[in-house]
Amino acid sequence: MAVRRVSLTINGGATLSKLRKIGGGAMETTMPMLEWDETFSVGVPAMDADNRRLFALINDLRGSISGGTDGKQMGKAITSLYNHFACGILSEEVRLYKNGYPALDEQVRDHDRYLGQLRRLYARFLAEDADGKILGAELIEVLTEYVREHVVRADRLFGEFLNGVRTADAPCWMNQDSWS
Ligand SMILES: [Fe+2]
Repeated sequence: MAVRRVSLTINGGATLSKLRKIGGGAMETTMPMLEWDETFSVGVPAMDADNRRLFALINDLRGSISGGTDGKQMGKAITSLYNHFACGILSEEVRLYKNGYPALDEQVRDHDRYLGQLRRLYARFLAEDADGKILGAELIEVLTEYVREHVVRADRLFGEFLNGVRTADAPCWMNQDSWS
């Protein structure tokens, strides 16, 4: 039997997630829920709101992986997560650009790296190239690294900057409605 493991770590290296294929598409998982708290705050309420939603969608996908949901529900969870992440990244870059953040290029390079990884996984999911649960777990792994390596480090650096100059804004999923 093919066995696949995914181990995720966050804050201090504690194991966040383990997933093991046990045959017949079933998954055995010990993934705990990812809970947002103030240690993840970047000091900008709209961005914190986006990240709270990101956490919720990661947990939704985690539930789909471990809960034996059908392909349609898995697809919905993966699509919602991918769309929200892409939306949040764009929203952040617009915010940084409008406010003249001096390290925007570094942010964009980092975003592109994570977004590229997610896009490749999402394309494989849409092409039905691999088990959706395996791809979903890999997607969670990338996003957990994004939270650990990018949000709590790079994004925190602009919290203080933006709080001094930023204009009013809203979480990205609210901005989507402004175009209709
Ligand atoms: Fe960022």
